[in-house]
Amino acid sequence: MAQLAVNVDHVATLRQARGGSTNYPEPVAAAVAAETAGADGIVVHLREDRRHINERDVRLLRKIVLSKLILEMGATSEMLGIALDIKPDCVTLVPEKREELTTEGGLDLITHENHIREAVSTLKNSGIAVCIFIDPDLDQIKVAHKIDADMIEIHTGAFCDAITDIQRQKEFDRIINSAKIGSKLKLEVNAGHGICYNSIKAFAGLNEINEFSIGHSIISRALLTGMEQAVRDMKELIFRL
Ligand code: PXP
Repeated sequence: MAQLAVNVDHVATLRQARGGSTNYPEPVAAAVAAETAGADGIVVHLREDRRHINERDVRLLRKIVLSKLILEMGATSEMLGIALDIKPDCVTLVPEKREELTTEGGLDLITHENHIREAVSTLKNSGIAVCIFIDPDLDQIKVAHKIDADMIEIHTGAFCDAITDIQRQKEFDRIINSAKIGSKLKLEVNAGHGICYNSIKAFAGLNEINEFSIGHSIISRALLTGMEQAVRDMKELIFRL
């Protein structure tokens, strides 16, 4: 059964919605509830502009998370310094643009190969596993393998956002091919971005995927059902894949 890593960024988004004048809701409490309901990992994205998660959250999560803490970050020297200090179990390297609403695409390893290779080596030398968030593109996967990443996270956003059936199938075929190639290259293959309680069902039988990284849909459901129920519902769907 694939694992479920729960991204709690949007609990912090709600906290920050009043311009920082409230200290609730608490992302750490959401992480504890997610773990109680069976989450296999907790994910947070520490963005350069600290728009949701801040350093205090990551430090507290490091102390409290019992499963594994996955830190998403850009490969900047500031973020590398924070990661080496806090030592999450895993870092997922993502591209980051200040203006974007959410991470818009995978890292372009063809353009940034040397820079990312250095970041991978720095993190791995410090005992942190490294995952790279990339589009479902064979050339990108080959570079991820070449620069010695432990894992890839395949960007599922284009598939989840596809409007027509043809587009959807085309995007899903890219995911299937990428998962198979990644797995052949002995990379651990994860998937994430935009996955909801409906789109998760498409992954039935795609056994190469080791872990799903899911945030927005779970936190949205949690508003109505509570965090534990929202995580249990997603775990159940993954169990049935
Ligand atoms: N994986 C990565 C690399 C992401 O940047 C995000 C969004 O923070 C996710 C997964 C989760 O996406 P969503 O919130 O749409 O489930």
